[in-house]
Amino acid sequence: MILEIINKKRLGKELSYKELDYFFNGYLNGEIADYQMASLLMAICINGMTDEEIFSLTKIFIDSGDILDFSDIEGIKVDKHSTGGIGDKTTLVIAPIVASLGIPVIKMSGRGLGYTGGTIDKLESIPGFRIDLKEKEIFEQVKDIGVVVTGQTKDLAPMDKVIYALRDVTGTVSSIPLIASSIMSKKIASDADKILIDIKVGNGALLKTKEEAKKLSELMIKIGEVYGREVRTIISDMNTPLGKCIGNALEVLEAVDVLKGKEDSTNLFNLCVELATEMVSMGKDVSKEDARKLVLESIDTGKALKKFEEMVKYQNGDLTAIKVSDKTIKIKANKTGEIKKINALELGKLSLALGAGKIKKSDKIDYSVGIKLNKLVGSYVKAGDLLMTLYVNKDAIDVNIDDIFTIE
Ligand code: URA
Repeated sequence: MILEIINKKRLGKELSYKELDYFFNGYLNGEIADYQMASLLMAICINGMTDEEIFSLTKIFIDSGDILDFSDIEGIKVDKHSTGGIGDKTTLVIAPIVASLGIPVIKMSGRGLGYTGGTIDKLESIPGFRIDLKEKEIFEQVKDIGVVVTGQTKDLAPMDKVIYALRDVTGTVSSIPLIASSIMSKKIASDADKILIDIKVGNGALLKTKEEAKKLSELMIKIGEVYGREVRTIISDMNTPLGKCIGNALEVLEAVDVLKGKEDSTNLFNLCVELATEMVSMGKDVSKEDARKLVLESIDTGKALKKFEEMVKYQNGDLTAIKVSDKTIKIKANKTGEIKKINALELGKLSLALGAGKIKKSDKIDYSVGIKLNKLVGSYVKAGDLLMTLYVNKDAIDVNIDDIFTIE
């Protein structure tokens, strides 16, 4: 049966729910080996899946764990997910904005993958901040203050966790059917009423082309329909990193600055406003124009910042104790001209080399290190001008400026 299923998919044929269920649950129970699952995943990667197969797989993922029930919480719960990028701290900004406008936000976030940082790692850079809340605690916090950002509860789509770990090491992460089932199963199991997906495209993202992003978008909307959930998607650029900072503590501080209205001209600010506008429009059933006004007002009046501080305090965090390394390396321009590009992928690699993420699973993240861009795309620089500051805990680091900055 195992080989028959692998061969069927290798030949591009459709697998039934029963076959997928047998194989994936067999893997979870330890009856099917890593190499057999890896082989099926690669066949899926190469030959794709039909919509029916994708719906089946999503159901198998959902049914592998708990299905949370937050139906007692008043209001439309809107969740948001990003397919992952470099410098993506949008959740830290958006969750409090949306919650400050009376829409309950329960956001279960993940850790970094590959070169991309994870929201949970960022939040852990706030000393004391709890990211391991239980369902009951999540429920109470949302009832009390309307917002929670935490790690996934242990039993939420556990099948996704093991399959993702295998995909990560078998070159099968960027399969569109697998991404769609992975993300949607978690969003549906965590009981979101409406879902916004930020699909990233570019060299620093899982998906490299707009066509792939559009395909993923259509699929996720279809899966949402099967479960009666409205799904909206935004396709956003990930050739350039989001905002100015990459690295956990630095990114939290940057998110605070956005909430303070201090960073209102970056790609980060624009994307946060766009995403929050969609969420508010979905949560309040209002036009995008009205939603956008509310979002900007929440930032301008300090309501969103207050909500963020309230959330951090509720989850035991101490924002005043965040530590950024005081050892820095300044990287200066080697030529004069306009900055045409800043390469997200190269900065992702650099931040990993600094210790801001994990190269091996057993690595420990250094929350205090990272990168701050002192100049952004479009800036005119002279040779010798400061391009970026590295916050380090190392004596030396290799940086090839020309790989990161295109100056012409
Ligand atoms: N994020 C997820 O949660 N799953 C994927 O497969 C890709 C990105």
